Amino acid sequence: MRVTAKATQPDIKPLTGTIKTVYKFDPKRSNVWLEVDGDRQYVVKRFESSPAKQQFLRCLQIHPGQCEIKQHRQLERLGIPVVPIEKQVWQAGKLCLITPVMGQSLDRAAQAGQFDQPAARHALAKALGQLTALLLSKQLFFRDLKCSNILMDEAGQLRLIDAGSIRKVSAAQLPDCLKRMTRLLEKTAMEAAGQSPCPFTLSKTDRLRFAKSVLANVSCSTALADVLAMSHAR
Ligand SMILES: Nc1ncnc2c1ncn2[C@@H]1O[C@H](COP(=O)(O)OP(=O)(O)OP(=O)(O)O)[C@@H](O)[C@H]1O
Ligand SMILES: [Mg+2]
Repeated sequence: MRVTAKATQPDIKPLTGTIKTVYKFDPKRSNVWLEVDGDRQYVVKRFESSPAKQQFLRCLQIHPGQCEIKQHRQLERLGIPVVPIEKQVWQAGKLCLITPVMGQSLDRAAQAGQFDQPAARHALAKALGQLTALLLSKQLFFRDLKCSNILMDEAGQLRLIDAGSIRKVSAAQLPDCLKRMTRLLEKTAMEAAGQSPCPFTLSKTDRLRFAKSVLANVSCSTALADVLAMSHAR
């Protein structure tokens, strides 16, 4: 469960500036906040397991933060729109990842009423279809493809965050991966819709636009193309 928090949470200390917003407060797993230092704004994600454990994982180069950095770099090279991780900083033995602010996550955008208009939802459905198709075309599976892990900037461009778990899969696995990613996206989009100032439901048109956009943009294995063609014909 996501914990909504205020900027006064104990235990969260800014790196160099002041804390403007706490996006996530979970002292057992990770804290995420927006920090301002002069005219600079950046997001800090601090891993919260014990410093001893983090230092041990660091030595072995298998700290989840280190893996996230590596994965984001690789995804950038593959042309997947991810938010770049600009820096890593150790704060009292805990790893902090620094990312630029490139819009807000889709759940927060929904809470701010950004998708109250059907036209905004249609545009989002199309953009999510394109993003999903891009992942499939590169044979990538993101098991955590949820609204809170996708940022949208002012121009409507989507970018992934928290993408350390993306992995390459075989062509035969793609249909199942598509099902799992779509289910999670739909579940989290419904939750976000319920938190909107004017709660809405996902219409058949929203779903159709998403499906059409996946179909129009996917270029990959025959296995997946067959499954998509079959489900489209039904
Ligand atoms: N660069 C960024 N710009 C704007 N918002 C951000 C950025 N990075 C993180 N956030 C906000 O902080 C939230 C949590 O970030 P992130 O997903 O990286 O943390 P997490 O600990 O992996 O969270 P979870 O386990 O819940 O997925 C995001 O859903 C988003 O609202
Ligand atoms: Mg996340």
